[in-house]
Amino acid sequence: MPKLESPTGIDRNLTHYADPGFSRYLRRAFLASAGYDEADLERPVVGIADTSSDYTTCHRAMPQLVEAVKRGVLEAGGLPLVFPTLSLGEILLSPTAMLYRNLMAMATEEMITAQPMDAVVLLGGCDKTLPAQLMASASASVPAIHLVAGPMLAGDWRGERLGACTDCRRYWAQHRAGALDAEEIAAVEQNLCPTAGTCMVMGTASTMACVTEALGLMLPGAATPPAVSGQRLRLGVATGRRAVALAADGRSARDILTPAAFANALKVLAALSGSTNAVVHLLAIARRAGVDLSLDDFHTTAQQVPLLVDCKPAGTGYMEDFDKAGGVPVLLKALEPMLDLDTIGVSGQTLGALLQDVAAPGDWQTAIRTLDAPLGPASSLVVLKGSLAPDGAVLKKATSSPHLHKHRGPAIVFEGPDDAARVDDPALGITPEHVLVLRGAGPVALGMPEAGSMPLPKHLAAQGVTDMVRISDGRMSGTAYGTVALHVAPEATVGGPLALVRDGDLIELDVEAGRLDLLVPEETLAHRRAEWVAPAAPARGWRQLYAERVLQANLGADLDFMP
Ligand code: FES
Repeated sequence: MPKLESPTGIDRNLTHYADPGFSRYLRRAFLASAGYDEADLERPVVGIADTSSDYTTCHRAMPQLVEAVKRGVLEAGGLPLVFPTLSLGEILLSPTAMLYRNLMAMATEEMITAQPMDAVVLLGGCDKTLPAQLMASASASVPAIHLVAGPMLAGDWRGERLGACTDCRRYWAQHRAGALDAEEIAAVEQNLCPTAGTCMVMGTASTMACVTEALGLMLPGAATPPAVSGQRLRLGVATGRRAVALAADGRSARDILTPAAFANALKVLAALSGSTNAVVHLLAIARRAGVDLSLDDFHTTAQQVPLLVDCKPAGTGYMEDFDKAGGVPVLLKALEPMLDLDTIGVSGQTLGALLQDVAAPGDWQTAIRTLDAPLGPASSLVVLKGSLAPDGAVLKKATSSPHLHKHRGPAIVFEGPDDAARVDDPALGITPEHVLVLRGAGPVALGMPEAGSMPLPKHLAAQGVTDMVRISDGRMSGTAYGTVALHVAPEATVGGPLALVRDGDLIELDVEAGRLDLLVPEETLAHRRAEWVAPAAPARGWRQLYAERVLQANLGADLDFMP
């Protein structure tokens, strides 16, 4: 029997009316109503996942980028069909965009696989959008190529460059300490986000864009050009053209997401001193791709790779500086001796072949350093384990305070982000030696809000205290800094040891040893465990499904039935 060819283009994924001929006929009739003729419908179809939304301000220039991608698809002989998906604006979502990452991943995957398309271009950028899209493309078997909105340009206030959101936090801390008055903080507010685009420091959006390029799911050089640049639009056109080639090639994200690709991406993450959020996202994406990745892999890699990129919060520059110095291709060149050069991404070339045409970091710039003259030592990220975090926690050493790396202090416990407002209560008697514990912020509790880097008490900030040890089962923004042990697993809401901490208990952090311990006798803990009552769970809808099925942070906080 002759082999039946799989349907392509608009004939893929026919609507089920129990009559394929009727389905095809009806589909063409409705597409004709939208202005598509026979010549259009013979072309390979490239779906374009559009995350434009008034609520996602970082994507305000995305409509132009969509047009650029469409032009590239048309030039290469494809038929571009744009479709909307959930869009997660980090700042306008409550309790946190992270609560909806898995929902967006699921909805995006379903739209890719349910609609007819031979390849898909996924346009993301703001914090959780790109991770959700990566999870979707790892699960769908459709050839996929990613592109991001691109970072904002840096702002300026009183002659100092500034940007979202490392400087948002720095100036806000100064305001809380009384060093900036209401008028000054209002002026800062107007200059933090001067253009369209994602946060222009090495926060989660920038980190995930760079990591996606390193994984091979984005065209070389596509992570860093500013949102408002012509280069961003040219990348849109090139991405559209490349999507048509991928439609013919059939290479899917799962083919690209190999263990070697993840190993390379982890090295890039370490060299960037990227966001701690990338740990949770990469764990989830790897599970979707069937790649064995654990917290220990991040720890081991971080110990081998020094800090090479000078970008806030670990450095002093902004994404536009990194971009001008050559972006991810030049960083990969600097890391070349440590990388697996046989990986093949969406470009279709091996990494080794791509790097042949890339120059090493030049002396004319300081944004990208070499392995011989790094910006900072290895070990920018540390995985902590111990009696308080049996399944692990992470700490960004590069943005923490060395004098707190070995610290023992009494706990002050806060029950969730709302309770953190108590931190300013003088009656608590908080000293710089205290350890601030914020629990009830894990995946099951609340979807892991970025509350872990809770503010320091005002009275201490006014005295010049700029950092304290903080511990949480939640996350912190990639743009934040401080000595904060995050993603503590298991979280308090499922009865992890964090749930048993009481005010005054001694906690010990030892960053060099990778330890986080609760110094309370086991008998006492056993009593508390017996008395512990699990908090009430959400009783309907997405929040119920999420709370019932979400995995812990050390497993990527995906839903347990999705990997
Ligand atoms: Fe959108 Fe930072 S808020 S990337």
